[in-house]
Amino acid sequence: MIQRIIFATAIACLLIAAPVQSQTVIYESDVLHHPVVGQNGMVASQHTLASEAGLEILKKGGNAVDAAVAVGFSLAVVLPRAGNLGGGGFMMLYDSKSNETKSINYREMAPLTSHRDMYLDPDGNVDRMKVIASYQAAGVPGTVAGLAMALEKYGTMSLKEVMKPAIKQAEDGFVVTHDLARILRNSTRRMRAWPETAKIFYKGDDFYEAGDVLKQKDLAWSLKQIAKHGPKAFYGGEVGKRLVADMVDNDGLITMDDLAAYEAEDVEPVWGKYRGYDIASMPPPSSGGVHVIQMLNMLEAFPLGYMGHNSAETIHIMAEVMKRAYADRSEHLGDPNFWDVPVEGLTSTEYAASLIKDLDRWTATPSDDIKAGKPQAYESEETTQFTVVDKQGNVVSNTYTLNFSFGSGIVAKGTGILLNNEMDDFSAKPGTPNAFGLLGGEANSVQPKKRPLSSMTPTMVFKDGKPYFATGSPGGSRIITTVLQVILNIIDHDMNVSEASNAPRMHHQWYPEELYIEKGVSYDTQSLLRSKGHVVKYRNAMGSTQTIMIRDGYIFGSTDPRRPDGSCVGY
Ligand code: GLY
Repeated sequence: MIQRIIFATAIACLLIAAPVQSQTVIYESDVLHHPVVGQNGMVASQHTLASEAGLEILKKGGNAVDAAVAVGFSLAVVLPRAGNLGGGGFMMLYDSKSNETKSINYREMAPLTSHRDMYLDPDGNVDRMKVIASYQAAGVPGTVAGLAMALEKYGTMSLKEVMKPAIKQAEDGFVVTHDLARILRNSTRRMRAWPETAKIFYKGDDFYEAGDVLKQKDLAWSLKQIAKHGPKAFYGGEVGKRLVADMVDNDGLITMDDLAAYEAEDVEPVWGKYRGYDIASMPPPSSGGVHVIQMLNMLEAFPLGYMGHNSAETIHIMAEVMKRAYADRSEHLGDPNFWDVPVEGLTSTEYAASLIKDLDRWTATPSDDIKAGKPQAYESEETTQFTVVDKQGNVVSNTYTLNFSFGSGIVAKGTGILLNNEMDDFSAKPGTPNAFGLLGGEANSVQPKKRPLSSMTPTMVFKDGKPYFATGSPGGSRIITTVLQVILNIIDHDMNVSEASNAPRMHHQWYPEELYIEKGVSYDTQSLLRSKGHVVKYRNAMGSTQTIMIRDGYIFGSTDPRRPDGSCVGY
């Protein structure tokens, strides 16, 4: 395939006798899906306006981190269901000058007065509304700290400069898309329950329609405070004071002390190897990196390329491997500042070999027969990913979230900021599944200042020591398996980034004992899977990846077609 690209590019150069521009690159004309091509920089995100904001920063001479921070603030305005200031996330960064890969943990923290059984009702059952739709559902937000930390340590521009597009989008408004109009209509019951939210996202009894302009004045005020005073505007200044005042009025937990105590952390990525490629991903409190590597370690024993993409045999093996990884997730994963997560064991190839010893190539192992192993010796759909590459080869892969669509649905009064309901990512009652059906135990119980376990998996893959591609996705418990499949599609199934993003996906998370498949997996494949003992269920679009590859002097990118407003823009 590489030879084909080089040959076709050379022909294009000869024919037009001009520098190769992205529009004139002829490559792989025989594929079903074509990536965006650029040479100087690229941004992929779930909203066109945010991608353009990032591209504007790149064109002004900003690096990938400057552009990523601009995208992060912009998505908080134009993609309110997932982009955020009131949530948290993880960022992976590759610095081309130092050839170093870093990660920033800006996951939310449990408030200081939180405690293990705080979401149990008098009968000892989880109070679902309290943990997903109340002021007590919010963890202390990390997004402002995380984006500011990335910019300060690895960026070149000021907050003021990179926040300009977001401030303009909030103040002057932006055009509502069909998708935003649809989701606001669908969320009306949860969102209109909160007057401050209703005031911003609804026109009295009417709805925003596609083509209307949505202005967010309070959010513009918050953004301007942050641009002017830095993150302290949020963690101690005027924005924080408004947020806390609203908490006090509504029995919320977050105090000024919580905001002051919040810290984003610069952490080392978790590393693995797969068929000669190096994989760098997010360490705990994300479960993503550990389990992508663990699953790749198990899958390396199988010739997936020969077995064929989405053949019954390949899907069966992937499902069996996923069950084993998610069993371990439920037992071993939590915030490493509070729980000794056996990262080394979980990601070791020897441990992976021991896990697949009983993997039957032809028959599904019942989930009841799979238990978490002993290595010592997983939505809401509404998280969002953005990926950026600049001319110097710096790379950013970032996933952040409010948890559910629009988080708790609550906007802190006077701030325009939607609050997360990330406390549901803790195990409110060990052994009882959360909103994604994920099981957890003591490792992920609620404790003050602890970060809830996440599935967010911003990931980079290296070839010969240099970034080859970066990806990530929303999708709750399905994030990890989505990222896994992008990697397999590129490495094992020889797909370009666009094909790898478009290809139908599958997912298994141990419990519930169901194998999910998207449209596009044939009926005969499905019946072969059933004959192996799988409970096969159709699931609509899983994940929304943003993937960028650097190869042969070009940058190839793709935004997942599963969500309507995304775009990948390059130059
Ligand atoms: N809130 C979904 C996750 O972090 O995995």
